[in-house]
Amino acid sequence: MILNVTHLSPRTGSEVKIGKAELVNGAYAQEIRALLDQRGVLLFRGLAPDDNELRAIARTLGDLRIGASKRGSDGATLTEGEDGLLKVSLDEKVNPQYARFLIGNCLWHMDGTYEEVPPLATLFTPYKLSREGGDTMFANTYAAFEDLPEDERARVEHLNVVHTMQAALFPAKRDCTPEEFAVWCSYPVRSHPLVWRHKSGRKSLVLSTSGAYVEGMHPAESHDLLQRLMAHATQEKYTYRHKWQMGDMVIWDNTGTMHRVMPFDRESGREFHRCTLNGEEPITASSDKRLPA
Ligand SMILES: [Fe+2]
Repeated sequence: MILNVTHLSPRTGSEVKIGKAELVNGAYAQEIRALLDQRGVLLFRGLAPDDNELRAIARTLGDLRIGASKRGSDGATLTEGEDGLLKVSLDEKVNPQYARFLIGNCLWHMDGTYEEVPPLATLFTPYKLSREGGDTMFANTYAAFEDLPEDERARVEHLNVVHTMQAALFPAKRDCTPEEFAVWCSYPVRSHPLVWRHKSGRKSLVLSTSGAYVEGMHPAESHDLLQRLMAHATQEKYTYRHKWQMGDMVIWDNTGTMHRVMPFDRESGREFHRCTLNGEEPITASSDKRLPA
């Protein structure tokens, strides 16, 4: 079957026109997975899935994340909402556990870089939009890697980057208290290859604000390299900026894109509902001869 697809920008993002029933029953699930891998971000307009429909669509595409958690030294456990449905809001009344971590969403990031196997994808639909701002931006990290000069590709393929919660959050909240900083530091630290050779054979950059430093590199050189790659990967030609409408559903490939939210009124009550698909492969280095099964 062939999907009705319109590209939203040259290197990432496509709109798919399809009925909700066909999404819920999974008739096009294989085609949608393939397109998500190619394009990084898929938009479905006018869909307005309710929570059960969002869960059902997620289950046609992969392994819906349920009850995953992380815990810091303050004992706060973060779960994936109710039966895999998480309410994303800065309002602590809506989401008391997650709201304080969402400050980092305004910076370019991948989700779950503290995990060995980061999430595969996220399905996202608005329940309340801010009157202004709040667009979501996506950057295609496959395209950014492919366009690096050959010598640079060869150089970065053998590097590993350490990701931390404090690296992800401090740039978004430089007036944090020492206690907050200590909690961030209590979260898992994870080293990942800078270049991911996916089981498909394609390669992408593994970039995120959570990337603290390149292992074995002088700190100043490491800082410069990560900043330069971030500037490269987030050029307009690799990005798609989504202006939300009520009824939208967007799916992004967390393994081949970064995302961030643009500024909006924190008191606006902006709220999205989200389902996350578990990852299917660890981040594997190009130099690693072992390919995941
Ligand atoms: Fe995110």
